[in-house]
Amino acid sequence: MNSKITAEAIRAMRARGEKIAALTAYDYPMAKMLDEAGIPLILVGDSLGMVVLGYPDTTHVTMAEMEHHVRAAARAKPLALLGADLPYRSCETAAMAVTNAKRLVAAGAEFVKAEGGREILPQVGAIIAAGIPFCGHLGMLPQNVLVEGGYHVKGKTEIEHRALVSDAQALADAGAFAIVLELVTPPVATEITARVAIPTIGIGSGDGCDGQILVTYDLVGLFPWFTPRFVKPGAKCAADIKSAAAAWMKSIETTVRVQIVKDIKKG
Ligand code: KIV
Repeated sequence: MNSKITAEAIRAMRARGEKIAALTAYDYPMAKMLDEAGIPLILVGDSLGMVVLGYPDTTHVTMAEMEHHVRAAARAKPLALLGADLPYRSCETAAMAVTNAKRLVAAGAEFVKAEGGREILPQVGAIIAAGIPFCGHLGMLPQNVLVEGGYHVKGKTEIEHRALVSDAQALADAGAFAIVLELVTPPVATEITARVAIPTIGIGSGDGCDGQILVTYDLVGLFPWFTPRFVKPGAKCAADIKSAAAAWMKSIETTVRVQIVKDIKKG
């Protein structure tokens, strides 16, 4: 695609049976590189809390931090649709959701994403009524990590299965243009994909979704201390950075030593 990609264009990709590739970016160079690679959907995810800001989980990410990173990514002026996460506790009421979604749009986001299903329908409705495209996020919800005591696969029980299908249907009916399905069992993710009329974008949920999203730092090996089991890194950026730094250090050391030897000889 050589023209600006909209939420409608992402929906049309599903209609044409084209897989949707989505990746995260938190700054100008990464957004620009992903755009130049032809990625149609870029998300400034609150995963930036862990892979960029060094927090233990996403519950520490603030609106101000999200705005800062959205502004940086938006300066790449990508053809890709650029979205942003509403961070922890930023959309507890419909009014808060709209205020904060507007802040992210003012920073450069073209859609917002929030975690949750039927329990956040008033917020979703208010965001969409304000004219802001909305992407849902179901399954394992990273912002619930403290409440749930970890990151657990969802859809294993019949209760979870039925809740996920109902939540997905409710988000689609409310006007979401897509839904991220994170760590949902592959059969349930495939069933949701067949039942809802909007694209599903999976992460760790099998290949039955309309698209896939990854945290780019996982894909390119830029956060080597933890790699999710479902990611096969396509590059070793951290290893390359470390060896470039070590090689450069060695070259500096050599130069310094040469200089010292010359100085000694000069007497
Ligand atoms: O925060 C994030 O990066 C996300 C994606 C992994 C879906 O929500």
